[in-house]
Amino acid sequence: ALQAVIFDLDGVITDTAEYHYVAWKKLGESLDIPFDREFNEQLKGISRGESLARILRLGGKEDAYSAEEKEEFASRKNKYYVSLLDSLTPEHTYPGIRELLLELHASGIPAVIASASKNAPQILKALELDSLFRYVVHPDSVPHGKPAPDLFLRGAEEVGADVKACIGIEDAQAGIEAIKSAGMIAVGIGEEVVLKGSGADVVLKDTTQLTLSFLERTLQEHSH
Ligand code: G6P
Ligand code: MG
Repeated sequence: ALQAVIFDLDGVITDTAEYHYVAWKKLGESLDIPFDREFNEQLKGISRGESLARILRLGGKEDAYSAEEKEEFASRKNKYYVSLLDSLTPEHTYPGIRELLLELHASGIPAVIASASKNAPQILKALELDSLFRYVVHPDSVPHGKPAPDLFLRGAEEVGADVKACIGIEDAQAGIEAIKSAGMIAVGIGEEVVLKGSGADVVLKDTTQLTLSFLERTLQEHSH
């Protein structure tokens, strides 16, 4: 039986993946490094520092700035991103998510957050979902970010769940890879072509069909 559901946050619980995109795009443009949504797929699930490194590399500018300047770029992006979070309310929770969390809660199945974001606690508070998660993994508490399995493994460990009985839910290619290398079943939210290629067991267009019975069925059909 299902022992835990380990959720990514940005782009799974709410639309903050879009806010990250808008904020990085603004920073990129200010550095004369424009990029599109296709490139942005490579930033999803990736830490703040590594995302900046990838953008600078795209522009051929990885060696153009000092460590202090890079620090400043990352903090400028975060300030802009955090200002976008100001408008978040519980109504911004993706469809079906609150209902799923309530179902899990009622069944005693732990829900866990495994996000690379240091802003995760603030977002969960704004959405009034914090009490429905048993554990939020802190990104700095593990050695490796996604696509390494560390965040998902830590999440399972904290709630005493066997990885084979865990489902991970992700909108990012790096996140799907992380779930699969943790030995869990991966549910992708987004485009089939983007996420199947990274190894998702099933892909849903959006969160409307995410129910406990869907997850239980998925675990049964995909575990061996
Ligand atoms: C998540 C998002 C990424 C973001 C990372 C760090 O993984 O998908 O887009 O860069 O978290 O977020 P933070 O809020 O700490 O900058
Ligand atoms: Mg995400």
